[in-house]
Amino acid sequence: MGKETLTVTDNRTGKIYELPIEHGTIRATDLRQIKAETDDFGLMSYDPAYMNTAECKSTITYIDGDKGILEYRGYPIEQLAEHSNYLEVAYLLIYGDLPNQERLAWWRNRISRHTFIHNNLVELIQAFRYDAHPMGILISCVSAMSTLFPDAKNVDDPAVREKQIWRIIGQVPTIAAYAYRNRIGRPFNQPDNSLSYTANLLYMMDYMNQRDYEVNPVLAKALDVLFILHADHEQNCSTATMRGVGSSRVDPYSALSAATAALYGPLHGGANEAVLRMLQQIGNVKNVPDFIDRVKKGEGRLMGFGHRVYKNYDPRAKIIRKVAYEVFEATDSNPLLEIAVELERIALQDEYFIARKLYPNVDFYSGLIYQALGFPMEYFPFLFAIPRAAGWLTQWLEMLDDPEQKIMRPRQVYLGASQRDYVPLEQR
Ligand code: ACO
Repeated sequence: MGKETLTVTDNRTGKIYELPIEHGTIRATDLRQIKAETDDFGLMSYDPAYMNTAECKSTITYIDGDKGILEYRGYPIEQLAEHSNYLEVAYLLIYGDLPNQERLAWWRNRISRHTFIHNNLVELIQAFRYDAHPMGILISCVSAMSTLFPDAKNVDDPAVREKQIWRIIGQVPTIAAYAYRNRIGRPFNQPDNSLSYTANLLYMMDYMNQRDYEVNPVLAKALDVLFILHADHEQNCSTATMRGVGSSRVDPYSALSAATAALYGPLHGGANEAVLRMLQQIGNVKNVPDFIDRVKKGEGRLMGFGHRVYKNYDPRAKIIRKVAYEVFEATDSNPLLEIAVELERIALQDEYFIARKLYPNVDFYSGLIYQALGFPMEYFPFLFAIPRAAGWLTQWLEMLDDPEQKIMRPRQVYLGASQRDYVPLEQR
């Protein structure tokens, strides 16, 4: 093994530089010493969309996109999905290790003590139009929480941070349920903290005073697995937003509200909703080949396929496919499943998708499951945001404690007009 350095020759000047390599990276700021003239700014790297820029060092989530590996704190996602539950995984992410029984009981208690929402939030939810998109409501409610808990501003105090984490993880499902009940014009159900995290969410959404009401355990378990799969995914668009906004030292509610907005987009957490709309638009298995042809001609994308990092089957998609069949056994089968399976079958053997390494991602099947669980389509991104809150908060904590981090401030390559004089309006 040679030296852990990179030798760069600047052909403009003939000068040679030796840059250290650490963890397979060079420091972008080391490039700044490379100058054509003594007074020039120094070399920068140009990386639109951060295609090849590590923004932080992290110990939270490991992904090997080529091999299709995803691990939280070193634990393979397959093992967590099979043996763990969402709240335990949230603890693992935030505190770095699996809890023992005592700590898990404590953690459950902390979260369940924070499931009730402030009446101001109830009023805020009721102020929205009946057809308001739930993500707009979530973004607003999380942002409004910063006004209800002004102590959250004190982000340098670890105890204050921890309390906001309990509040966010505890209250976000209640906001989801209330937003839903408001939309369908039904009274709100108070949280039932004797239930599991996901069973409580289903209960708050569904309960209608039935004497024999019970949350279907298969459905609560399926939602729990989906929550585990969505809990973190390292530096994606919304997490980078959480870190970026949080780097200004704003309170976590404001940062999380920005991360939620980033997640809302159709290329990110909005994709599961987009997949369902696409499946409905295709309408019938016999239309699948024609749809694929149109995608190949660039007339739209096959939603739920492709990923910036996974150039192999998204490991979460494999688990979700299995969960989908379990859910469909407990509910009515979804006719759109047939279209999804056919799309996947054709795409996986089509040269266009093979050459571009486009495989199903986590969103390809999740929408079908959410639909079978009875959630309206607009709620799908919300169901991504609830579990991702744990990931965002963990990444936020790591960013705050990282001595190398500062306020996020990328550079630009300015290509606009050079300096010119203002022309008065009457002379233009
Ligand atoms: N359908 C058809 N073609 C696609 C798709 C797709 N879903 N995704 C990528 N491609 C093609 C592009 O047209 C491009 O082809 P070209 O080289 O001939 O121009 C090539 O594959 C590379 O695509 P990029 O857009 O450069 O890939 P990028 O890494 O920027 O995009 C993304 C990743 C946004 C996820 C993309 O694959 C996509 O739009 N997928 C559909 C939306 C989706 O499912 N998003 C969910 C992502 S997972 C998540 O957020 C949880």
